[in-house]
Amino acid sequence: MISGVGLDIGTNMLVAAMFDDNGNPTFKMQRDAFYRLVPKSEVNRSSIKLSLNKRGFNYIEDPDGSFIVVGEEALETAIERNDVAKRPLRRGVISPKEKNSLPMLKIIIEKLIGKGDGGNLIYSVPARPIDGEFDIVYHTEMMSHYLGDMGYKAMPINEAFAIALSELVDDGLTGICLSFGAGMTNVAVIHQGDSLVEFSMTKGGDYIDNAVGHALDISPSLVQLEKESGTDLNNPSSKIMEAVSVYYGTVIKYALENICFELDRRKKDLPIFRESVKFVVSGGLSLAEGFEKRVAAVLSTVNFPIKISELVRAKEPMTAVANGCLLASQL
Ligand SMILES: Nc1ncnc2c1ncn2[C@@H]1O[C@H](COP(=O)(O)OP(=O)(O)OP(=O)(O)O)[C@@H](O)[C@H]1O
Ligand SMILES: [Mg+2]
Repeated sequence: MISGVGLDIGTNMLVAAMFDDNGNPTFKMQRDAFYRLVPKSEVNRSSIKLSLNKRGFNYIEDPDGSFIVVGEEALETAIERNDVAKRPLRRGVISPKEKNSLPMLKIIIEKLIGKGDGGNLIYSVPARPIDGEFDIVYHTEMMSHYLGDMGYKAMPINEAFAIALSELVDDGLTGICLSFGAGMTNVAVIHQGDSLVEFSMTKGGDYIDNAVGHALDISPSLVQLEKESGTDLNNPSSKIMEAVSVYYGTVIKYALENICFELDRRKKDLPIFRESVKFVVSGGLSLAEGFEKRVAAVLSTVNFPIKISELVRAKEPMTAVANGCLLASQL
C-alpha cells in the first residue's frame, strides 16, 4: 500500500485522503463540530449516556461529568435542542482565544485517520485574510505540533494551491483556484506550479447561514442543513432558499470584487500570462445548482485582470483539497 495522508482541515468539514490497496485515493469525512450535554442529575446522566450509546453517537465523557458529542451528530443534537453546535475552528483557524476546543479537534482527527507511523501527512491551511485581523501562524504551528504527536511527519500547504494540485495537473499547474468554504473563501493564482498570490476572505457559508438566520429569525444550523440538502440558486423552493440565494450572490460578488482589487494591487507579483487560464471553483458552496453560472455572470461585470479560458468546477468539490494534499504527500 502507498503511504501518505492528505488532510483538509476545514471550518465545517474534515476530509482525509489515503490510497487504497489498488493505489486509488479514498476519502473519509467528518463534520468539524461538537456539542456539550450537561446532565441535570445523576439519573439524567445515566439516561443521556444510554441514549447516546443506543443511537451510536460519537462522544467523549468530560471529567466534569458532561458529554461532548462530536462530528455530524453534534449538529443533529444541537438542532434537536434548538441550539447551535460549536466549532473547534472559526474562519478556517483555531484561535489562541479558543484553546479549549483544541482537544475536540484532535479527537475528531484521530477518529478519522488514526495514529501515524512516521509517514508524510500534508494538511491544508487557509491563506492570510485580506479582511480579517487574525493570522494563520498560530494555527499552522499548533496543527503541525498536534499531528506530529499523533505520529505523522506533518507539513502544511495552502488550501487553494491544493485544489490546483488536484485539478490543474493537465494544465501545467497554471490557473486560478477558489475554494468557497464555510468560514472562508480562499484564492490562489498559480503559474507553472508556483503559487504567486494567495489570500483569503472571511465571507463563506457561515456568513450565509448567519445572515439568513438573522433575517428569518431561525437557527443558522437549520439554514446550513437546508442548504446542504440541495440548493438550486435559480429556482429557490422556499423562503429560506430564496434568502440563501440572495446571500450566495453577496458572497460571490464580494469574492470576485476583492480578487480584482488585490490582483490589481499586486500586479508586480504577477507574471504576464501569455495564454488565458482556467478558473477553478471548489468547496462546499460550489455544490449548489447554478453556482458556476452565477460566478460567470459576476465575472462578466468585473474587470478581471487575467484572461480566463474556461470556468470549471472541481470534479469533486468536497474532496478536491484533501486529494491535492494527498498528491502533495507523494512529491
Ligand atoms: N450540497 C450543498 N449545497 C450547498 N451548500 C453546501 C452543500 N454542501 C455543503 N455546503 C456548504 O458549504 C460550506 C462548507 O464547505 P466546505 O466543506 O468546503 O468548507 P470547509 O472546508 O469546512 O471550510 P473552510 O474552507 O472555510 O475552512 C458550508 O456552508 C456548507 O453548508
Ligand atoms: Mg475548506
